[in-house]
Amino acid sequence: MPVLRIKGGTPLRGEIYASGAKNAVLPMTAASVLISGKITLTNCPRITDAETSAEIIKALGGCAEFDKNTLTIDCSGLNLTRIPQRLCEKMRSSITFCGPLLARFGCIGFYEPGGCVLGKRPIDLHIMGFKAMGAEVVEERGKITLKGSLKGAEINLPFPSVGATQSLMAAACLAKGTTVITNPSKEPETLALTDFLNACGGKISFYENRVEIEGVEQLHSAKARVIPDRIEAATYLCAAAATRGKITIRGITLSELGIIGDVLKETSCILTEKENGIFLKAPQQLNSVNEITTAPYPGFPTDLQPQICALLSLAHGKSIVKETVFEARNRHIGELIKTGAEIAEENRSFIISGVDCLKSAGLNAYDLRGGAALVIAALAAKGTSEIHNPHHIFRGYEGLIQKITSLGGNIEIL
Ligand code: UD1
Repeated sequence: MPVLRIKGGTPLRGEIYASGAKNAVLPMTAASVLISGKITLTNCPRITDAETSAEIIKALGGCAEFDKNTLTIDCSGLNLTRIPQRLCEKMRSSITFCGPLLARFGCIGFYEPGGCVLGKRPIDLHIMGFKAMGAEVVEERGKITLKGSLKGAEINLPFPSVGATQSLMAAACLAKGTTVITNPSKEPETLALTDFLNACGGKISFYENRVEIEGVEQLHSAKARVIPDRIEAATYLCAAAATRGKITIRGITLSELGIIGDVLKETSCILTEKENGIFLKAPQQLNSVNEITTAPYPGFPTDLQPQICALLSLAHGKSIVKETVFEARNRHIGELIKTGAEIAEENRSFIISGVDCLKSAGLNAYDLRGGAALVIAALAAKGTSEIHNPHHIFRGYEGLIQKITSLGGNIEIL
C-alpha cells in the first residue's frame, strides 16, 4: 500500500496554479448524460474522482476521454441505465448521475453511494425530489430503482443540499413543464452547473433563494471551462501559512476563494490579489480566530474544516471550530493530536489551543479533506511523517506531490 512521506519544517515558497474544481467537474460530467451530443470540458482536474465519473459514463455505453486537462464526453450512444455497484460505492457523486439518467431514459438503477465516511449521508432529499417530479421509487436491499417520465414540480429543500439541488436541477431540464426548487444550494459549483446547462440549451434562472427550471425537449453540445478549485487553493494557502511560507496561487481570485480568505487574514496572514492570482505571506506568529462554524455557501465550507483545524493548531491562543454540515467529520482530529496538536472535542465543536510547533508522526488519512489536513500538519511539523491511505487525498488533489515539491516542500510517495 502506498504511503506519503513528508519531511516537514520547510516554509513553502513559490507559485502554483489552481486546478479545476472537483466539485464542479463531477456534476458537469454527470449532467452530460442528458445530452446526446459532444461535450468538451476544459481545465478538468486529473483526479481519481473525475476518472471514476468518466468510468461511469463508459460503463453506461457512452464515451469519455481525457486528453491532458480536457475531458471529451459523448453520450449519444448511451444505452444502459444501471450504474455498476462497484462505481456507486467508489464515490458519493455517483448519485448525481441518477437525476439526469432518469430524466433522459425514464428509468435508472443504482446502489447506495459511497464516498468519504463523514457519518450518515442519506439521499432522502434526492428521492423526495424525484418523487415530487413523478418518479416511482423501489428500494430493495441497497438497490434503488427509479422509474417514470418526469414532470415539473415545486420542491422545497429543508436543507440546501448540494448534490440534491444539482441532481434535481439537471433532471428538471428535460422534465415536462417548470420546476421550482426553493432553498437550493448556492455554492459556486452549483452556479457553474447552471451556466453549463444553460450553455447546452437549458432554461434555468437562479434567483435569491429559488431556482426555476423550464423543461426543454433536448439539450445540445457545448464546451465549458471548469471553474478553479477554491478548496484546493485554500488547502495550499493553509499549508503555506502553517509552514510560515509565502506563495502565489494563479488562476483564482479572492472573491472566488470566498470566506476562507477573511479567516486567513484574521490569523494575521497577508493576503492580496496579484496578477491573476492570490498572494499569501504568513506572519511569524499566527493568531487564533473567533468561532468558525461550517455552513452552506456563503458560510465557511465544511470541506475546509479539517485544514483550518490543522492551521489553527499552530495559532497563538484558543480557536473554536464548529462542524454543522456533517455529523461525523472528525476523524482527522485524533490524527492531528498525534502530531502534538491540542484539540478537545465537545459534541461537534473542536476547541483548539495553539502550540508553537507540531511533531512528526505516523498518520492515517481516513477521508479526502481530513487527509489534506494531515499533509498540512506534516509539512509544518519537525521531522519526517508518514501518511497511510493517501488514495483518499488523490481523489481530490491534482498533482499534489508535484505542486508541493515545486513550492520547496519535501514530499514523496513510497
Ligand atoms: C457536496 C460536496 C462535498 C461537500 C458537501 C457539503 C460534491 C461532489 N461534494 O457533497 O465535497 O462536503 O457538498 O458542502 O460537490 N443530506 C441529507 N439528505 C440528502 C442529501 C444530503 O440529509 O438527501 C445531508 C447530508 O447528510 C449532509 C448535508 O445534507 O449532512 C450536506 O450534504 P450535501 O450538501 O448533499 O453534500 P453532497 O452533495 O453529498
